[in-house]
Amino acid sequence: MTRKLLRGRVLSFRAEPQTPDDTQSFDYIEDGALIISGGKIEAVGPYANLRLQANGAKEVDHRPHILMAGFIDTHIHFPQVQVVASWAEQLLDWLNTYTFPEETRYADAAHARAMASRFYDQLLDHGTTTAMAYCSVHKTSAEAYFEEAAKRNMCMIGGKVLMDRNAPDGLLDTPQSGYDDSKALIEKWHGVGRAHYAITPRFAITSTPEQMEMAGVLAAEHRTCFVQTHLSENHDEIAYTAELYPQARDYLDVYESHGLLGPKMFLGHSIHLKDREIGVIAETGSHPVFCPTSNLFLGSGLFDDAKLRKHGIVNAIATDIGGGTSYSMLQTLNEGYKILQLQRQRMHAFRAFYWITRGNAVTLGLQDKIGTLDEGSDADIVVLNSSATPAMALRAERITTLAEELFLMQIMGDDRTIAQTYVAGVAQKKKAVI
Ligand code: GUN
Ligand code: ZN
Repeated sequence: MTRKLLRGRVLSFRAEPQTPDDTQSFDYIEDGALIISGGKIEAVGPYANLRLQANGAKEVDHRPHILMAGFIDTHIHFPQVQVVASWAEQLLDWLNTYTFPEETRYADAAHARAMASRFYDQLLDHGTTTAMAYCSVHKTSAEAYFEEAAKRNMCMIGGKVLMDRNAPDGLLDTPQSGYDDSKALIEKWHGVGRAHYAITPRFAITSTPEQMEMAGVLAAEHRTCFVQTHLSENHDEIAYTAELYPQARDYLDVYESHGLLGPKMFLGHSIHLKDREIGVIAETGSHPVFCPTSNLFLGSGLFDDAKLRKHGIVNAIATDIGGGTSYSMLQTLNEGYKILQLQRQRMHAFRAFYWITRGNAVTLGLQDKIGTLDEGSDADIVVLNSSATPAMALRAERITTLAEELFLMQIMGDDRTIAQTYVAGVAQKKKAVI
């Protein structure tokens, strides 16, 4: 692989920015550069210094754009690429009418493979270099998901969903087959190359207590695997869960009583939480996942970021395609900003860009590899153009600070803002805008 010298404005976070003008939490080099080799960041610093060190490396000049770590999406559904923007009432109607029937198609390996390729094209076009995905119930879909990630040398996390009730026949496993298929996938993929497995009981409604128990056994047997599920997204979902699990103290208890909580657990949505649930999420170090575009699209509710943070909880942020409406983590920040505004909470630009890079990496425990541009980390990089559209360029004329420029991209940015995406040092966008 060619050694490269990328030139541009380099921005990388060291810690979570505490205030809108907290410049201590990141490194910013106006005329900066990265040397990348062997898929990793070999050096980062001022261009003037690195040029001497580059020693014949191929130079790519991305000025005046910003070089930042690739974006990380911590909750997305791979078999929902053709479900996005489906007209429905709220969550359960949307699942039953569109999502479940669509996911039955992923039993077909050829279909799953074709869709995996298109799924990754979307992620990379939108600047996402790592995601944690729900595959369909079929082992074939997870195989296609991991095979395509390996081909592209991407750091991807995912798992087949466990679901053994309340869905069409073509979408059900059993406690035993779900256990066996997950175990086989873990053995084949977890820790191989850049792949990680996530044990994935879809949510309480689609798993019997027997299956939830099996998920708990799997998690206990594979402690380095991630675990992901949905929690308290919608009022009808919560009421139905209470009927299905009458012994549970609350929704979270369905997962808690099966030993599924902990720092590896990602709880999609986590909107309508009781105080006891918040206390247990904090105690166990589990991570709620804020899914703004989905929460608005499905009318699910307003994620209370500040309340959870007050309890010491570290929240992740994600698109939740196909309940979510954009692959763009920038559009996710845009809608997230508005959800927090409605609750008199603010998401300033430094925190926003920290969140979709190093912040999400920290929730995954992968901050030594991804989410930063530190020397030695994987060379997953996005190149950001804050004047990507005429409307952005017009607004940018009056911008004087980095914070303002980032905020412009946080609100108006999308795939057009991504001038280039590098995965392990390799440029992914064919028509790079440089
Ligand atoms: N709850 C269970 N499954 C799903 C899903 O596919 N999308 C969303 N948004 N919520 C869910
Ligand atoms: Zn989801």
